[in-house]
Parts: sequence; C-alpha cells; structure tokens
Amino acid sequence: MCGIVGYIGPKEKKEILLDGLQELEYRGYDSAGIAVIEGKKLSNFKAIGKLKNLREKTKSYKSEGFGISIGHTRWATHGKPTELNAHPHLGAYSYVVHNGIIENYQNLKEELQKDGVTFLSQTDTETIVHLFEKFNNAMNDPFPAFQKTIEKLEGAYATLLITEAAPDTIFFAKNGSPMLIGFDGEEVYFASSDTPIIGKANEVYYLEDGEYGFVKEGKVTLFNEEGEKNFTKQALTADKISAQKDGYRFFMEKEIYEQSHVMTDTMMGRVLDDSIHFEELDKDFFDDIYAITICACGTSYHSALASSYLFQRLGKMRCDVEIASEFRYKEPFLTRKTLFITISQSGETADTLEALKMAKTAGMKTLSICNVDNSSIVRESDVAILTRAGIEKGVASTKAFATQSMVLWMLSLYLGQVRETVSEEILKREIDAMIHTPKALIVDEKLHAKLTRLSKRYLHGHGFFFIGRDIFFPLALEGALKLKEISYLHAEGYPAGEMKHGPIALADSELFTVALMPKTMHYDKIKSNVEELSARDATILAISPEPFELADDFIKTQYDSHPMLEFFEMMVVTQLLALEISVRLGNDVDMPRNLAKSVTVE
Ligand code: AGP
Repeated sequence: MCGIVGYIGPKEKKEILLDGLQELEYRGYDSAGIAVIEGKKLSNFKAIGKLKNLREKTKSYKSEGFGISIGHTRWATHGKPTELNAHPHLGAYSYVVHNGIIENYQNLKEELQKDGVTFLSQTDTETIVHLFEKFNNAMNDPFPAFQKTIEKLEGAYATLLITEAAPDTIFFAKNGSPMLIGFDGEEVYFASSDTPIIGKANEVYYLEDGEYGFVKEGKVTLFNEEGEKNFTKQALTADKISAQKDGYRFFMEKEIYEQSHVMTDTMMGRVLDDSIHFEELDKDFFDDIYAITICACGTSYHSALASSYLFQRLGKMRCDVEIASEFRYKEPFLTRKTLFITISQSGETADTLEALKMAKTAGMKTLSICNVDNSSIVRESDVAILTRAGIEKGVASTKAFATQSMVLWMLSLYLGQVRETVSEEILKREIDAMIHTPKALIVDEKLHAKLTRLSKRYLHGHGFFFIGRDIFFPLALEGALKLKEISYLHAEGYPAGEMKHGPIALADSELFTVALMPKTMHYDKIKSNVEELSARDATILAISPEPFELADDFIKTQYDSHPMLEFFEMMVVTQLLALEISVRLGNDVDMPRNLAKSVTVE
C-alpha cells in the first residue's frame, strides 16, 4: 500500500508530485504529503484524508527552479491517519517517504531515543530519517550514511530520502515493495507504478529487491549487495489508459456494467470454435505436472477457490487453494511436479508476491493470472496470462473477479483438452457456454432498479449470510466480501450445507440470508438448506431462475442451462446489491474506509 513519487529536475514540482499521487491514490488515501528542496529553500505540506485536501493546502505554493522532491499517499499501518503520521517524515534536515513495513523499527527507535532523538509520529518510517541523520552527523557523507541506514532495515520497503546535506540528490532503496525510476533526459522520476510517469518519462527501470542508490545530475548510481551495478532501461509506453466514470455515479458501477464487453476481450483468441488456445502456454506446459496449487488474497482467492472445482472436474487434476498470507508461514510441502498459480488483479499484493517467490525458490513452475502487465507478480512468474479487464479503479473488485474466473475456467478446460479428460461433447458444451457469458453479464436496467428498491430493506439487522454450494460457495464468499467492504455491514459467506452445523443458531428475522439457488447445481439440496433457515424465521433473499415460495424477496435470474452462466449472472446481482446498499448508507463506494486498492504490505 501507500504510493510514492519523486522528481529531480528544473520543472515545477508541486504539480508533478500531485498528479503522480493522484494516479497512486488507489494505494491508500488516509493522508498525503510532499517535500521539496530547492537550493536552501525547504517546503513541506501534509494533509489528512484524500489528495484533494493536500491540493487545497498547497494552492498558493509553487516551486521554482532546479530541485529535488518527494511525495506520498498513505495507507496507515503504524499509527493513526493523522497529519503527524503523514509522510514525508522530517528529521533535522532531511525528509523521507516509505511504502512497506520496517519490522525492526521498535528496536531502532529505542536505540535512537536513547541517543536523545525525539519522535514526532507513531510510524515505523520515521526511524529511517533519524537513523540516516545519526549516521550522516557522524560521517558527514550522505551516501555512505544512507547505505548504512538501509543495512539496518528489516522488512519491506520502497523509500526515497532527500536531505539538505545533498540538495541535488535523491537517495532510494527498494526491498519487497514496488518502485521504478523514470527517465527523460536529465530529469529523473520515481514512482510506485508506471502510471504517474507515463507521458512524462520515456524510459523506465523497474528496481529489483535489494537495490538502492542515488540520483544526481541526471545520473542514477545503482547498487545491490554485490556492489555497484549496471542496469538497462526499457522504453515506457506513451499512452496512459486512464479510466473515466463515463456518466456512471461510481467507478464500481461502471466496472460492473463493463463486465460484459471486457469478457469478450478476455476470451479473444483463446476461446476458439472447438478448442481453447493460450498463446502464452507452450504445448508441453502441463507435461510432468500432476497437481496445482493456487495462491491469492481476497477476491482473487475467491476466484481461485471456484476454479478448484473446475480443475478437478474438467482437468481431473488435484487443485489446492491457499490464502497467500497463510501459505507463506505454514512450511508448505512444495514439489516440482506441482504447478504454482498466483492470481492477482494488481500484481503487487505483497503476500501473493512473496508466496510466488517461495515457489520459485523451491523450483516450481509458476504461472500468474493478473490484470496488470509489467507488475511485480507478472515479472516474477515464468508465464503470465493477462485477464484483460482494463483498469479497475473501484477498490471493491468486480470485473477483475469476473475475468479471473473466466481465465481459470478456460484454463481448466484447456487442461482437460491437453490431458484428454474431457470428451468432445463436454468441450463443445463448455465452449458454447463461454461464448454466451458476455450476454449473461449484461446488466438489465430493470433488475438494477429492483435491487435499488430492495436495498432499503437491508440496512439494519445483525448480519448477512450469503450461502451457496459448489462453485456458488466461493461466489457466496465473494458476495459477502463485496457487501462488507463497501457497506461496513457484517456479512459472511458460507457453504449452504454447513449452516446446520452451527451458524443456523443465529437465525431470526434480523438475519438476512442471500441464497444462491442455481437451477443447474444441487438445486434441491440448497432448497432444503434455505427451508431450514426459513423455518427459523431468517429473512430470505433468494436469487434463482426458479421461483421459491419461502423467499421474502426474490430475484429471478434468466440462465438455467449451464452453472457458469448462472454463476456470472448471480455475481452481477450480488455486486449490484452491495453497491446499492452502500449508496443508501451514504458510503464512499469507490474508496471505502480503511482499504486500499493495492495491498503491498504483509
Ligand atoms: C477486493 O474487492 C478487495 N479489495 C481485495 O480483497 C483484493 O482482492 C485483494 O487485496 C487482492 O488483491 P489483488 O487481486 O490485487 O492481489
């Protein structure tokens, strides 16, 4: 989380930093700040909340002449979202911005406090700037002092430091959190991802973990643990594909409506008349592979979970799904005959990225399914399949989930095709359903209006259970996650058959049950489960093609010929329901409290 920008050069710096931070605001919006050094003039501004507050605060400020500058948008990890905790953090004569977590900051802080240093914030980041000044005061040489500082840090970081002791230099270091350097002649930019520098820089270098250095007079000097290092820049695309709301109230709403056409892009060149094709995969990709492990977080984890049913059903291959943050520390048994798949919208999720690195170290074949090309996860994987969803701005993921689910469905069928575990008849049936998917994703205005009306009945109560069976269980988990993320109401996803083993104790009229009741999958079983809840007075919102007389509210779906078509159609219903409840509650749909789009801390 958190977004970092930096610029060294003659141009007006405030606008460069604010524009860059605007592009990174999805990474956190608890506070933002900038610091500029021009000769002897030091300027520093911070504001809590969204970037617009910082814009307002810096309205009358303009930088002049050559200088160095850094900026930051924060997702709070250590310390509340206050102005004192906002970056850049100031020492006596230096500023620092940081993304990540310094795990040993308590020890470092205590040592510094013993030396008489006073800390103004509760953050881990502030230790970096004091540590640097401690070493620089002793050495009177900023780069070795910075180098020594970096050596002391444990954990994940991408950090930029500027100091009056070297007013023509930006110091940088990266380990575990993303950062890149952009070049335009003598001018140099830093950013957490490439969007802030597109249109400004024409070449880029994506820093690797363990790299650090400084930039001065347009020249970057780069080091890693082996010493000074040469590096090769690559061309940076000139087109910024920026997302606009296009008349929708929220990005999330637009992204729900977009799902139908982005799905066509996801399938293009991959779903052929009588086969599935991935140009990313060599013919022998699955040779010597006997099992699959998928690792992901949040929504991406839910798409993985749904696909585990498909990999076993169509590909006849064992498939385990792991939450990345759990996987990392369970000392997993990793074998080379297992394909390791990571799924991520952003491609920067720290837990997923670290799990991927573990798999690589174990010598596993790695494949990522990702929405962002050139992201850390894509670069780290042996092979990447892009989901082609386009930029997703809403923090609550929608079209990324839809396209991930589609790629995974295609991949499981592809596996069945190469392993000859699916008959021609099944292959045809699946392909036929895939081709119909964009239609199943079209948002029916009448349905949307009905959900808007219904939403007013679901603003109170003591919680929601989303229930489903088979692939509809992960969909229930996803429906519940969507609702809690943007409504702040308690919601859980549960396998319908599991309710009787405990959660049914909660049933009363104030317990809302959203029942996913597909016609094509265990309809009678789930019907019994919902009847059990209804008998205990739970309020039932049933989503099904089949009218259900015990439903308090009923959403009729259209598709009843293939489970995946029902899956996608019901997915849209749950997304719209969450959206409309959030709107009624007056919440910030696109930037819900406490969240960030890209989670780059553990
Ligand atoms: C989705 O609505 C969430 N905001 C979140 O759970 C997200 O899916 C998770 O953080 C993983 O992100 P990724 O797909 O970018 O790796």
